[in-house]
Amino acid sequence: VPTHVKSICCIGAGYVGGPTCSVIALKCPHIKVTIVDINPVRIAAWNSDVLPVYEPGLDEVVRECRGRNLFFSTDVDAAIKEADLIFVSVNTPTKTSGVGKGFAADLHYVEASTRRIASVATSSKIIVEKSTVPCRTAASMRTILESNSTFAADGTQISFQILSNPEFLAEGTAIRDLFAPDRVLIGSLDTQQGKAAANALSEVYENWVDRSKVYQTGLWSSELSKLAANALLAQRISSINSLAAICEATGANVDEVAHACGLDGRIGNKFLKASVGFGGSCFQKDILNLVYLSESLGLKEVSDYWHQVIKMNEYSKERFARKVVSTLFNTITFKKIAVLGFAFKKDTGDTREAAAITLCKYFRQERAFIAIYDPKVTTNQIMLDLTEPGVVDDAEAVRKQVRIATSMQDACDDAEAVIICTEWDEFKNASKQEWEAIYKAMKKPSFLFDGRGIVDTKMLREVGFKVHAVGKGPVIVDPVWA
Ligand code: UDX
Ligand code: UDX
Ligand code: ADP
Repeated sequence: VPTHVKSICCIGAGYVGGPTCSVIALKCPHIKVTIVDINPVRIAAWNSDVLPVYEPGLDEVVRECRGRNLFFSTDVDAAIKEADLIFVSVNTPTKTSGVGKGFAADLHYVEASTRRIASVATSSKIIVEKSTVPCRTAASMRTILESNSTFAADGTQISFQILSNPEFLAEGTAIRDLFAPDRVLIGSLDTQQGKAAANALSEVYENWVDRSKVYQTGLWSSELSKLAANALLAQRISSINSLAAICEATGANVDEVAHACGLDGRIGNKFLKASVGFGGSCFQKDILNLVYLSESLGLKEVSDYWHQVIKMNEYSKERFARKVVSTLFNTITFKKIAVLGFAFKKDTGDTREAAAITLCKYFRQERAFIAIYDPKVTTNQIMLDLTEPGVVDDAEAVRKQVRIATSMQDACDDAEAVIICTEWDEFKNASKQEWEAIYKAMKKPSFLFDGRGIVDTKMLREVGFKVHAVGKGPVIVDPVWA
């Protein structure tokens, strides 16, 4: 197995593989990095001026290394053959049918790429699991590779070392996170070969990350740490969102509560922003994985405990949606609702598990008309999300009820209520004049529901809006509401 890495292949040119390996190429000009994908449209986009992933700073990174030591290709086999080290960075969605449906990860993309590696490799390699996977996936990959490995041209048997190297980047800040990670986690077998492979990968990161930040563990610890880190982060959001409900019922202010708690160094002040609910491709999926794992291990109480984090998130979205309806005099039928922000967080065009999808579904069921504005998400993506099988099948009906707007003002024209679903700076920094123009164009009374706690409620009330912000005091529905 290689002890120094000169050539890297990344299988899967998605949100994780693309940015991660682009940064490796930038920081390691002496390493050839080839990112491959079976999806030719995606690869064409990576080779164009409009990358398939919107991520601040990514364009610059790709522009600097593409064609130098960074390549995007659909020739998976050639890239596998050439590489000393292969990142497996394919998607691992939650299963939608079969055993573990709704909880377990669908590993068939991981298995397919592992089998591909086994069948085309002509030299020994380090295989790195980069996708978030359930514990023990590395063991399965190992079995597949060992049972299928062939002989090199010189007659020696090819060998593989499997490492787990989960990615902790967050979308929207991917490049910043990759440049200065809190830690790089590398899990390996506790054997001489395993350690040697881990050191070879560590050496790649040490081109820009301080060695003290590289933490080497066993394979299972590494796999579990990824699920655990996401579960703990999501748990903080569900915890603060549960407190937001108490704040609204009592008149306390959740930002003050979060700040007061966060001043305790043991708690810390980060990741305590109350919201309409968390989204993104990782939190829900990883917790469901953890729930499924605990249950499979016969640890029912553990499984119930983590499942509650997701249930609280569903409740947060539902509670917010109900608040909108009850405030608008218990009906939004045929009313125009403006939805500001569709991405699951700011600075990304990604909508996976976005709270806005759940809210729009709810508003549609109440037969409202919805105008959606998001600075980055494409019209196509929004329509896809709202017509996704399982959400709604009737595309024609969606088109009758949903309009994609071109600006905040456009979305809010003639609306009864504005709903902020994503914390885009554009919404946060909108001036009093802009809000005044929006207010003027809306039906009266004009309601604003801030699902992200980003607007200046005092200023908006001065403008004339009736404002409800998550976790900030009770909504008063009667006309006395100032
Ligand atoms: C997350 C983890 O942060 C990252 O380490 C892991 O590698 C992948 O999953 P990501 O999903 O990209 O990253 O974004 P993150 O910033 O964690 O936000 C997730 C969701 O939680 C978003 O919908 C965000 O708006 C929400 N959130 C976050 C809150 O509602 N409140 C907060 O305080 C923080
Ligand atoms: C706690 C709070 O820390 C303090 O801020 C508050 O004012 C009163 O309650 P205390 O109960 O004195 O203080 O001790 P603490 O250090 O918080 O420990 C509580 C329990 O948790 C102990 O049994 C401790 O052993 C246990 N613990 C603490 C753990 O099991 N693991 C930990 O990581 C920390
Ligand atoms: P993530 O958020 O984990 O990066 P994505 O869905 O964005 O997930 O990206 C995963 C990518 O992996 C997709 O572009 C998909 O086409 C690609 N992929 C899946 N299976 C294979 C495979 N066997 N070989 C090459 N690419 C694959």
